[in-house]
Amino acid sequence: MNYELILKDLKPSQEEKDAVKKTSDKVISFINKTCEEEGIDAKAHAVGSVAKNTWLSGKSDIDIFISFPYDCEMEELKEKGLYLAYKTNDALNGNASEHYASHPYLTCDIDGFEVDIVPCYDLSGGKPIRSAVDRTILHTNYIKAHLSKEQEDEVLLLKKFIDAVGTYGSEFKTGGFAGYLCELLILNYGTFENTLRNAQNWKYNTGFDLENHGTLKDFKKDPLACIDPTDKNRNVGAALRIERFADFIVASRNFLEIADDEEMDESEKEEKIAEFFNQLKKDHLDKPNKDIAQDIVDSFKDRETQTLVIKFNIPIMSADALHPQLLKTVKSISEKLDSEGFDVFKYDYWTDEEKFVLFTIELNIFKQGKYYVHKGPKVWPKKPCDNFKKKWGDALYPLDDFMVLTRERKFNTAKGFIGDILENNIHIIKVGKSIKTVIKNSEIMEIDEFLNDLDIHFNYDLEKKNRVDLASDYLNSLDDFLNPGQYIKR
Ligand code: CTP
Ligand code: MG
Repeated sequence: MNYELILKDLKPSQEEKDAVKKTSDKVISFINKTCEEEGIDAKAHAVGSVAKNTWLSGKSDIDIFISFPYDCEMEELKEKGLYLAYKTNDALNGNASEHYASHPYLTCDIDGFEVDIVPCYDLSGGKPIRSAVDRTILHTNYIKAHLSKEQEDEVLLLKKFIDAVGTYGSEFKTGGFAGYLCELLILNYGTFENTLRNAQNWKYNTGFDLENHGTLKDFKKDPLACIDPTDKNRNVGAALRIERFADFIVASRNFLEIADDEEMDESEKEEKIAEFFNQLKKDHLDKPNKDIAQDIVDSFKDRETQTLVIKFNIPIMSADALHPQLLKTVKSISEKLDSEGFDVFKYDYWTDEEKFVLFTIELNIFKQGKYYVHKGPKVWPKKPCDNFKKKWGDALYPLDDFMVLTRERKFNTAKGFIGDILENNIHIIKVGKSIKTVIKNSEIMEIDEFLNDLDIHFNYDLEKKNRVDLASDYLNSLDDFLNPGQYIKR
């Protein structure tokens, strides 16, 4: 296949490249000059996709790392790192916000670019990492040394494809492929297309080890094991979740099915292939939120299920810590419902990562009869049966070879049952530790109740346009819930 036309859109123009380089150089030289003037032993480096020449046009986040000597105290690194970052931001008329990875860093808007300024340790000489971000400089050097000019284009194709099919990004929320992983895939398989040809046959725990470190055996549990060329003890694919791994495999098959179709008209093929490099268009969501909400209510009605929404507020915490706790909790609630004879069809969660969480649980069986059979000991040994009788008296009777009694359920609806767990019996489910207290004050509603009051729940004001986008994002996630697998085909 020829990808020239597609690449035209993905490759930054010379103008964009010059502008990015100008800002990046400005930040680096200001930091280095300040270090020199103030006797700070640290050095600024350009890292990430901008330094590697693998950024997609229009998506240049400029990553600048400040490396401190290996023996510098962590406190000093944090303090001087932030000091330098703020000083740079102010001198270059930026607009800064503080973020937290393994330690604090600054994201600045400088000349209209998003610039991350991150302090780290200097690992030269093969030292082990001291903070999670320390490898980044090594990654940048490795890719610059090994990726050829032609392969930079292959990385762009792969990154854009992976993004368009919904699997780009290694934060927990996505659980997909990081930019560095895309680069290593190209180093391993040579081209974009060859990566997909291999991916369509990947098995669980596919692995590659570019520098032959010999540590693949240590990552047998991960879907994809890609030994970091710069650190034999790290799997670059560690954050990739099985769902996104499978999505990518099937997306590769879907793409190649079209690319290899010999019957298809060339121009039709070209058009279809190009679609795989564009974000999925959801025309049916192109209307006011309240209309989308009504359509979604109708779709749920049509499924003849019951869908519950559980809403609670969250404490201040990082998104990467929050997401796994939410997934664990909603999964545990769903499993508990299943084990009580309710039948969960599907569950998911959504959060604005700042104020609140919405669990969505769709049930096939959401109401049960008033009574259930409570099982006791087998009929044969007399002693246990006597004890059982002491507790339950005359209500007992034998069923098959067990002593049983018919009991009334405390809650015969899923909604009542969940309400009771959250309010009084939280210990019977697995709850993320940061949300243990807040989840007790949940509101539980049916989906139509919730969606009818969408504006109130999101506290948005159409005039001010605040939080309207968040509500749309939630509606979009419900659309994904109702129509799984949309992103991986065109
Ligand atoms: N990094 C990493 N593992 C991750 C995320 C980031 O090792 N899960 C390191 C990589 O060395 C990466 C750098 O941090 O190159 C910067 O991260 P990011 O900006 O997310 O990736 P880029 O490679 O710059 O790709 P892009 O910005 O184009 O998405
Ligand atoms: Mg980047």
